[in-house]
Amino acid sequence: MPISAHEFVEMKGQRPIPMLTAYTCPVARAVEQAGIPIILVGDTVGMVEMGFDSTRDVTIEHMEYHVGAVRRGAPNTHIIGDLPYRTDRNPDIALESAHRLLRAGADSIKLEGAKLDVIAALVAQDIPVVGHTGLTPQTAKSFAKVGRTHSEAQRIKEESRAIQDAGAFMLVLEHIPYELATDITAELRIPTIGIGAGPDCDGQVLVINDALGLGDYWPPFSKQYAHLSQSILDVARDFSREVTSGEFPNNIIPFVNSGQR
Ligand code: KIV
Repeated sequence: MPISAHEFVEMKGQRPIPMLTAYTCPVARAVEQAGIPIILVGDTVGMVEMGFDSTRDVTIEHMEYHVGAVRRGAPNTHIIGDLPYRTDRNPDIALESAHRLLRAGADSIKLEGAKLDVIAALVAQDIPVVGHTGLTPQTAKSFAKVGRTHSEAQRIKEESRAIQDAGAFMLVLEHIPYELATDITAELRIPTIGIGAGPDCDGQVLVINDALGLGDYWPPFSKQYAHLSQSILDVARDFSREVTSGEFPNNIIPFVNSGQR
């Protein structure tokens, strides 16, 4: 059974929460097998998997497709479905969008910014909501760190409180000064999940493609635990060379697995 929103709130201060994004079934399966308790199907899918320049190109149909794939791979993991750009522009549209992602397999819904009326409307319908403040890519003009000035830091603090008070059970803090994330984490009752927000958040999230080294750009705060782009390049080159030389499929070693192909 996926861990509930309520149980995540109880984890605050008890143990750090590891979260990864996932967009496909096999990746979600591996993430679940690793014991990660919560997966974010983020609209980052638009940039890291679909080749768009911005998350603003992602649609609710794209998100339904990816939430469904992740649910099939990770039936026992809490899945957050991210509301794409403008599908949360008012409470009615957000409710309709959220229900589509819940039907596709999400356990909770994330949305960017202090859209307090939207958060309250979803929570009133018993939909668990994850907030997101700091750098909010759907509306940001750049990917630079935010919250460096006193007034910006104050705004992010106030937004964090307001998002909690509107009923969110968790808050993503993206690319803000570490001390600001430390203060917000200490003040809130709900867990904060940091990405580029320092070590004191209640949990950490990474975009899976960044962690896998799958792509051609990595944000400064990500960590590459593997180098999959290089592995794919190596495999494609080896395959090309072997087909050209006639080595493959003549050198194939019979391989037995449980699949049907
Ligand atoms: O869409 C996403 O993957 C996100 C993370 C960067 C937190 O919002």
